[in-house]
Amino acid sequence: MNSATELWQRYQDWLYYHEELNFYVDISRIRFTADFVAQMQPKFEKAFADMQALEAGAIANPDEDRMVGHYWLRAPELAPNESLKHDITSTLSKVDTFAKKVIKGEIHPPHAAKFTDILSIGIGGSALGPEFVAQAMAVTNPLLNISFIDNTDPDGIDLVLGQLSARLATTLVVVISKSGGTPEAANGMKEAKYAYEQKGLEFNRYAVAITGEGSKLDRIAKEEGWIDTFAMYDWIGGRTSELSAVGLLPAALQGIDIMAMLEGAKVMDEATRIANLKQNPAALLALAWYSETNGKGEKDMVILPYKDRLLLFSRYLQQLVMESLGKEKDLDGNTVYQGIAVYGNKGSTDQHAYVQQLREGVNNFFATFIEVLSDRAPGNKGPELEPGIFAGDFLSGFWQGTRKALYENGRGSITVSIPEVSPRMIGALIALYERAVGLYGFLVNVNAYHQPGVEAGKKAAAVILDLQKKVMAVLDAETAGSASLSIADLAHKVGQPEAIETVYLIVRHLDANSRINLEGNTGNPSSLRVSSLL
Ligand code: PA5
Repeated sequence: MNSATELWQRYQDWLYYHEELNFYVDISRIRFTADFVAQMQPKFEKAFADMQALEAGAIANPDEDRMVGHYWLRAPELAPNESLKHDITSTLSKVDTFAKKVIKGEIHPPHAAKFTDILSIGIGGSALGPEFVAQAMAVTNPLLNISFIDNTDPDGIDLVLGQLSARLATTLVVVISKSGGTPEAANGMKEAKYAYEQKGLEFNRYAVAITGEGSKLDRIAKEEGWIDTFAMYDWIGGRTSELSAVGLLPAALQGIDIMAMLEGAKVMDEATRIANLKQNPAALLALAWYSETNGKGEKDMVILPYKDRLLLFSRYLQQLVMESLGKEKDLDGNTVYQGIAVYGNKGSTDQHAYVQQLREGVNNFFATFIEVLSDRAPGNKGPELEPGIFAGDFLSGFWQGTRKALYENGRGSITVSIPEVSPRMIGALIALYERAVGLYGFLVNVNAYHQPGVEAGKKAAAVILDLQKKVMAVLDAETAGSASLSIADLAHKVGQPEAIETVYLIVRHLDANSRINLEGNTGNPSSLRVSSLL
């Protein structure tokens, strides 16, 4: 399959084109055979049937005993009951009305005519979608600027709040947490509240929450009288929540056409609902992934959008794919260690970085190129850089060159081509990948809608913080004045001698932040003496 004529034929045989969206998926540069496709056919038939049941309201997330309803967000008429339909339409209408009022100044800060900024606080599925869309649809002079706190890194928080400082009195805070109890989001909220209070501003008059009804965050927002709250539902997963209030409210506040996002997703959903491999672009992606990874994650997925605006699509997909598919157990309880590792940034920038290894080094990946056909905003041709050549011609040439070079060196690639970066295309891209991940999850028989590893990480951090509180209590009680303890004594006195290394790491961190006294050489733990500052 190497002559140009054969490849051109394969390209045409496998090219998927959605006429209404002007959207292409090309899997011709993945080396699967007709036999492989035939073998996969029964698996796909089962996956299509499972997907149909999921959309009809089956408990597709059995561990959490939940339905999986992100497809209903863009087609509420498909939701399995009236109450869900009502939840979707009423939340959408509330988001739309609220954003319009903020933009017009009908909802405004206490001491100014309009909000100028949005501060979005959340993590994981409550941040990556809004961040991706904000960058994809950024304009030179936005109606409202958006900033994000998506971590509990104090220095990162200080930077964002510092940059907003002069405009804090006109900044609307959007706190996003489905569970309403995620520490990073809660900490971001508390830090922001502190910054408002330091400026004499009443935080509740600047804040809205997007969260599950009855969650801790929901209770705080209601008790403190925040401007409003927007509902998040248990049948929407964090990583598939971009087209719920989680993504729609920040987008609408920036003036992004959320109805077009939903419409693009709806049209793509219709295409990816078709139970026919060659007519279904998400199934084609899942087929290509399975072929490259042997259905066992044997190769990594490298996402290379040739468009700066789509830089964060790689990060967005990293979560969507890895949190969904990266599972120890399959649905029957067998240990499978499933997943596909995803990384990437953007072309052609990455051609000056890791693409060297992709082209010539270890062959442990397949690439996905995202090609955007239009180079610039309509009517803006830009300068001619060489006779007859514009900047976008270079970008396109670099993409084609890399695709060709990879293939010639035995490395597979997929290309997704879209006409432009627009709200409609963003919706279509999100829907395409949500469905591909869902179908692939069924192919490899994992629950793509839970995240036990994420929950385990949250619990592990809580154990460390609990130990830190005990360490501080022992130091305060036993080392006030001139007394001090060795690390071993300290671990013994907190009742966890086996956790000596954790105690040492806690103490080293506290010392670096001037919250305890530490004498000795921190690189030699047994030499250390610890005491409280009291
Ligand atoms: O996709 C997921 O479920 C996670 O990444 C969550 O979005 C993340 O942990 C944040 O959770 P929450 O929205 O409950 O604060």
